[in-house]
Amino acid sequence: MVDRKTNRVITLEEYIIQAQNKFPGATGELSQLLRDIGLAAKIISREVNKAGITNILGEDGSTNVHGESVKKLDLFADRQLISALNRSEITCMVISEENDGIVELDNDGGKYIVYLDPLDGSSNIDVNVSIGSIFSIYMRKKPGSDELSEDDALQPGVKQVAAGYVLYGSSTLMAYTTGLGVSLFTLDPSIGEFILSDTDVKIPDHGTIYSVNEGSYHSWDKGLKQYVKYCQVEDPATKRPYKARYIGSMVADVHRTLITGGIFIYPNSSQYPNGKLRLMYECNPLSFLIEQAGGMAIDCEGRIMEINPESIHQRTPIFIGSKQNVLKVKEFLDEYA
Ligand code: AHG
Ligand code: MN
Ligand code: MN
Ligand code: MN
Repeated sequence: MVDRKTNRVITLEEYIIQAQNKFPGATGELSQLLRDIGLAAKIISREVNKAGITNILGEDGSTNVHGESVKKLDLFADRQLISALNRSEITCMVISEENDGIVELDNDGGKYIVYLDPLDGSSNIDVNVSIGSIFSIYMRKKPGSDELSEDDALQPGVKQVAAGYVLYGSSTLMAYTTGLGVSLFTLDPSIGEFILSDTDVKIPDHGTIYSVNEGSYHSWDKGLKQYVKYCQVEDPATKRPYKARYIGSMVADVHRTLITGGIFIYPNSSQYPNGKLRLMYECNPLSFLIEQAGGMAIDCEGRIMEINPESIHQRTPIFIGSKQNVLKVKEFLDEYA
């Protein structure tokens, strides 16, 4: 996309400032926060693209609060994002997949709270498959109060002021929303800038791709089993059978769903009775983006973004994507509940 006035590309920084200028009372703090995340994303992207050369592949040797073995790139991304957020006096605390509790930043006066999945899709790092970073931004419930607590951060997804992801794929792409639609940027490594590629992105109302790890089929609820069977039935009138696509990096699976339409599912199973994906830094931010693009995101009961969180690392099942596809799976879940 080019700026009609100057007939040249629009960078992430310029776009953020143009968006901020539409709100005369804006302080510019959220803009600065988004720019900080953009900087960290460029540094992470450079490391991801050199992963085979620098000693950044493989395990770190530690395990995180989820019992997952932590990869070196998980920690590199975590450190880059937290230090970028620590530089400007805007964010008071970070909650990240790779830290057990809240990470208090130097600026306890900061009014924003940032949730991070610093590196999503870690199991794909060493096999050169797309991975991502996810962020979700809230205002503090009690701005200015000096004590920082988890309680300040436990807010439903509808309270997010911004959310987005970076996808380190065939190119590095950044998507974010502040509640006014979804904008996409592509990193141009030759100038080191994220360049605006799409504004107000809309997800197709129906899609013909379903995305779920069928390895845990045996332990699914009956409604989901029936829904996947429905996807596999030959019926040209409804463009079935659908295609099955599963990358194993949520950011990549959800980004594909945003662009092509369809549905991504991570259900509850015997291994993950409450689902595997984390509400606050995987499901809520991606649900915000997909809803902003005209899609839907639910758990077995209702809207993901209306879940009142009880803990910062809690998990939830998720059914996210095109409205018609999510409504159809909900029909099956309700019928066999
Ligand atoms: P993370 O790498 O941040 O821990 O997230 C991995 C998640 C998510 O990216 C993906 O959708 C899911 O794990 C894949 O899980 P399975 O390997 O169980 O399918
Ligand atoms: Mn992980
Ligand atoms: Mn993740
Ligand atoms: Mn992760």
